[in-house]
This record gives sequence, structure tokens and C-alpha cells, in this order.
Amino acid sequence: MIFKSKWRYAQKMKKPMVKIAGIENYFPEKVVTNHDLEKIVDTNHEWIVERTGISERRMSQKHETPGFMGSVASKNLLQRLQIDPNDIDIILVATITSDYSFPATACLIQDQIGAKRAWGYDLSAACSGYLYGLETARAFIGSGLAKNVLLIAAEKMSSILNYEDRTTCVLFGDAATASLVTASENESGILDSLLKMDGSGLPCLYMPAGGSLEPPSEETVKNKLHYVVQEGRSVYKRAVTDMGEVCVELLKKHNLSADDLKLFVPHQANLRIIESAAERMKLDPKKIALNIQRYGNTTAATIPSALAEHLENGSLEKGDLVLLASFGAGFTWGATLIRI
Ligand code: ACO
Repeated sequence: MIFKSKWRYAQKMKKPMVKIAGIENYFPEKVVTNHDLEKIVDTNHEWIVERTGISERRMSQKHETPGFMGSVASKNLLQRLQIDPNDIDIILVATITSDYSFPATACLIQDQIGAKRAWGYDLSAACSGYLYGLETARAFIGSGLAKNVLLIAAEKMSSILNYEDRTTCVLFGDAATASLVTASENESGILDSLLKMDGSGLPCLYMPAGGSLEPPSEETVKNKLHYVVQEGRSVYKRAVTDMGEVCVELLKKHNLSADDLKLFVPHQANLRIIESAAERMKLDPKKIALNIQRYGNTTAATIPSALAEHLENGSLEKGDLVLLASFGAGFTWGATLIRI
């Protein structure tokens, strides 16, 4: 009797698998090629392609904010999946370029899509925003506090780029994605995640002003402190090591090798960083999901946008293992293993 009730309790407490039910991308229509950038800053197409792998990126119009782009992507997703906005419990928005300092972009999206029952908030983890958001959604669903979490990853990087600084302005692009994260009825879903942080990375990649430490002033604007500042080399060195190592650690934890993976979906900051992470895992380069050539680094949106392309083109089958990996400002980084 005691055994039976313990078993029932264990079954009740068994965490459900949590899956990504679908992803929808939004890319602004305006394409900015490397040749376009050559006209405004001292750079050239060959340098950008050779050092980063980027050929072009998208640039938002004024109204195409994370709130706007995230709302459009969310509406399209809910329509495609035939989910009533009132069935969304929580809205999480991974962004470092929110429409306002406050309120959260999650509030704007909640209003725009008519998700009347939902609560939510924004999450700031730069390029790791999607993986941090996925793990947060998994925790809410796993604990029974939510059934459907709408996870938006949206960035208007063009709003914080200094187009006189060739070392940063060529790297980034604008985009939004919306993912529905929900309980899985079978073995598909998120298997595990390793997320990391090292706050000593602050000086290597940040926006110096606009926060409460350096509120906007004539001085901060004059000194161009409202733009991305990056020590490219330092970030590069950490990214090549840490992104690869966390992938190896997660695979090892599950007694897997790169051969067991069907697809590797890394953060798309630099093709050389991605190739080096793949090499560290001994992964066949053909298994890498890439869209950096077309969109550049869209910060939180790179991983879901690249994954969405593969979910759509039918290259993934039930049971396939997919590894997501990120590295970004903070520093923040991590890896997430999912089964399709
Ligand atoms: N066009 C032409 N020349 C350039 C450009 C450009 N756009 N940018 C820099 N250069 C020059 C530099 O001035 C330097 O010239 P010098 O030798 O005369 O001084 C030369 O190219 C080499 O510069 P490096 O910075 O050493 O070039 P590197 O090979 O490191 O590439 C890059 C720079 C692409 C930025 C690389 O360091 C990188 O990708 N870093 C990591 C970026 C990243 O992963 N960010 C994290 C995610 S973003 C987030 O979280 C928001």
C-alpha cells in the first residue's frame, strides 16, 4: 500500500518533457549588403566575408521594433499552430534592444496579440537569450505553473550600432522569432541544458550609457556611449573556447558523440567561431545550421531563426538529436540538447 502511494507520488512528480511546438521568423524587408556598408564606412566585402562569413543583413524601419516584429511573428505562429492567444500563460521576450527601458516588451506583445490571460517579462542575456529563455520556459512548464509559454527572441541591433565604427556595425542585423514552448506528450523535447555566466566579461562587450549608471545626457550622446562597444579579439578567444567546451560537456554528460547529432544550431556571430566549436566536438561540418551569410548576428534571434529554417525544410525527423549552442555578452553561454 505504502509502496503504491509512493509510486503514484513519483509518477505525479515526474517532470513532463517540454518541447518547442513551432517557431516563426520575422525579418525586415530591407537588405543591407556588405557593398552597401562599403559606402558608409571604411570596410570591404572581402574582409567581412573572410573574417565573419556575413554577406548581408536586414535592417528595420523605425516601426519595426522587437515589440512590433515579435508581435507579428507571434500572431503568425499562433495562427499556424491554431492556438488561441488566450491559451498563452506566459510571454518571455529575450532581447537587449527592448522598445522602452520600461515597461517590458512582453507587455507590448501581450497587448498586441490579445493574450489576455498571460503574464510575462523580458530577459536580458544577449546572444544566449534564447537558450536562457528556453530553460526558463522549461522550468515553468515542468513545475506545472504554465502550459504554454510564448518565447520571443527579438532584436533591433541597428538601433544600438555606431555606423562609423567598422569593427561592430558590419556584424549585426535585425530580426525576431516567436517560439511556442509547451508540454510534450511523448519523448520529443528538451533533454538537457547547461547554461553558464561569467560577469567579468563586461568590459569586452557592452553599451556604456543609457542604464542607471550612466543615464543619457548631452555628454553621453556626444561621446557616442549609446552604442555597442566590443573588444572583438577578446570575445573571439572566449567564444571559440567556451562554446565548444560546453557542447562537449553536454554531449559527454549524456554519453553521446557528435556523430549522434543530426544538426548543430550554434549562435551565428562568426563563421570561424562556429567552425571551431564544431571541430572541438569532432562534428561533420555538413551538420551545421547556418544563416549568418544572409542575416548576420541577430543576437538572441540567431538560434531560433536557424532552427526554424530546418524545422520548415523537412530535414529533421522524429527522434533526431539537435544541439543548440550560444556565446554572448555578459559573458553568457550554454548548450541545449533537444530531441525532435
Ligand atoms: N573592415 C575592414 N577592416 C576591419 C574591419 C572591417 N569591418 N573591422 C576591423 N578591421 C581591421 C582592424 O582595424 C584591424 O586592423 P589593424 O590590424 O590595422 O589594426 C584588422 O582588421 C584586424 O582586426 P581584428 O579585430 O583583429 O579582426 P578579427 O579577425 O578578430 O575579426 C571580429 C574581428 C570579426 C569582430 C572577431 O573578433 C569576432 O567575431 N569577435 C567575436 C564577436 C562575437 O562573437 N560577439 C559575441 C556575440 S555578440 C552579443 O552578445 C551581442
